[in-house]
Amino acid sequence: MDLYGWIIYNGYLKGNKFLDFAQWIQKAAAKQHIQTNIYQNNHLLSFFSSDSMTLLHTKQTELPHFVVFTDKDIYLAKQLEFLGVRVFNSAQTIALSDDKIATYQTLAANGLPIPRTVVAPKAFQQTDDINVDDYRDIANQLGLPMIVKEAFGSFGEQVHLVSTEKELFAKIQELHGKPFMLQEFISSSYGTDIRLHVVGDAVVASMKRQSSNDFRANVTAGGTMQKYHPTKQETDLAIASAKAIGADFAGVDLLFGENKEPIVCEINSNAHIRNMYNCTGINVADFIMNDIRKKLK
Ligand SMILES: Nc1ncnc2c1ncn2[C@@H]1O[C@H](COP(=O)(O)OP(=O)(O)O)[C@@H](O)[C@H]1O
Ligand SMILES: [Mg+2]
Repeated sequence: MDLYGWIIYNGYLKGNKFLDFAQWIQKAAAKQHIQTNIYQNNHLLSFFSSDSMTLLHTKQTELPHFVVFTDKDIYLAKQLEFLGVRVFNSAQTIALSDDKIATYQTLAANGLPIPRTVVAPKAFQQTDDINVDDYRDIANQLGLPMIVKEAFGSFGEQVHLVSTEKELFAKIQELHGKPFMLQEFISSSYGTDIRLHVVGDAVVASMKRQSSNDFRANVTAGGTMQKYHPTKQETDLAIASAKAIGADFAGVDLLFGENKEPIVCEINSNAHIRNMYNCTGINVADFIMNDIRKKLK
């Protein structure tokens, strides 16, 4: 049986970073003689009623054997799974990765090392300002400076470092109504993290990111990349973390603790592969397609 797949990306995001990701996957598939089509999520509308579930404008017979999802449209991923299509990564994995609070909670439940974290109690946007006194104990427990991080965010833009109680309380007021957490600042990792790209049961490529002028290592925040050879401990942790959220492939970011011990910072279920290629010469897409082929056999 010839495998046929779809690659789905977000049609609403500006710039072509995600189309680029989709095209890399498509090229890797073609190298392995696997035919694929690229779709925007907004061209695949999920329809359901009590007696039918479909994607509008698509016949059941045209459904692919698998989908590579470079998007975070969790409802669409779930719809495809209900229609019997294997989605890489699964809807559940995308949801766990997208929500950083859910990621940390799952990692903690699996006994994996993360920064000590306290979840901000849910507060509805339309309610009155919250009482910052609720947070005084937390501030004492985690210590200052401290990280205030939104559940949803990327490029470091929703990650904040606060140095005083006054800054902390101002940030809490500002984020009122959004899901966020307070987190121990791993100061030994200032401006530095490592990205280990996990595919299946292996780390296939790694890099170190370092910023000289920001506590965040994100390349978009001025971080520079260099090739990196992870230790066994780092490799094992990255694989265990990807497994904890059920990822087929993921970019796992690790921080360095006081004694250089790795601590998980985040797991990207749709980590870009071009940066990794530019830095290491390793094309992660080839590994992803290999893994998919193996799993569908
Ligand atoms: N608890 C922390 N301690 C130290 N640095 C952190 C911590 N959390 C995040 N950072 C820094 O901020 C960067 C962005 O945080 P991250 O959680 O990865 O969010 P994003 O999804 O926006 O990249 C990380 O790469 C790391 O350099
Ligand atoms: Mg990050």
